[in-house]
Amino acid sequence: MDVPPRSLRHAGMAVQVWPDAEIACRVAGDLIITSIRAAEAQRRRAVLGLATGSTPERVYAHLVRQYRTGGVSFRNVITYNLDEYYPISPVDPRSYRAYMHRHLFSQVDLEPNRAHVLDGTVPEAFVAGLAAAFDRWIEADGGLDLQLLGIGRNGHIGFNEPSDLTVAEALRLPTRLVELHPTTRADAARDFGGADQVIARALTLGIAPILAARSIVILATGAPKAEAVAAALTGPMTAALPASLLQSVAGKVTWILDEPAASGLNGPWSVVRGDQDRVRGAAH
Ligand code: F6R
Repeated sequence: MDVPPRSLRHAGMAVQVWPDAEIACRVAGDLIITSIRAAEAQRRRAVLGLATGSTPERVYAHLVRQYRTGGVSFRNVITYNLDEYYPISPVDPRSYRAYMHRHLFSQVDLEPNRAHVLDGTVPEAFVAGLAAAFDRWIEADGGLDLQLLGIGRNGHIGFNEPSDLTVAEALRLPTRLVELHPTTRADAARDFGGADQVIARALTLGIAPILAARSIVILATGAPKAEAVAAALTGPMTAALPASLLQSVAGKVTWILDEPAASGLNGPWSVVRGDQDRVRGAAH
């Protein structure tokens, strides 16, 4: 049984603070399992929006452990990933398709044709068509039950980078090809052997399809995220900090943090049980 976390609300969004990253990731994984079971109970497939990066690695490890011990099956699951570098081959180990294969797809009983990752090999002239089709496929599958997000140090969600758009414009952003922000490239330097080696562009699910998910779980761990987390939760909505745009759909957003990522937030804090029920409800 997990230790009850501290919890609070900021701008109408539920915030759970767990003692460490391992527990935070397990809690996020359990919300995904709850969402899968809720869809199963309705005799339909769960549609999950998934993230990559270092933060969710432990979420996937938890899901794989649960799958191996019979706690969850992905037989009736459809997944859509948030983003992919462009251009990149799916067999390049730095691609997000390869990441997902390593951490989840090859480890569970998910059907290959239900595991969607934006295709970094599409000729540039066809990228806009692919991006629009991706948004249509999600809609045709009934929309995302749950979108798992991480947050960049610059406040990005997916690869929706900070911009000087108005809030109204940013909220309409569709899936598309983008230029990566210098902070994002610096953070990816480790995987590419230097910031100047990082692939400069990426395909990303847009702000609009992210916010259309029926529930959104945003996971942040570690002190380097504290500033962006506090600004997204307590600052104004602005396209300069894309995670702040989650405030526009506050009632369906749950932040899951570890103590270091929450270090920029102030109380008052309370026990979270009611919020967990609310998330469960949103997944139904
Ligand atoms: C990854 C993604 C990004 C990451 C963010 C945090 O699919 O969409 O927004 O969630 O850059 O990355 P990590 O977890 O590596 O700190």
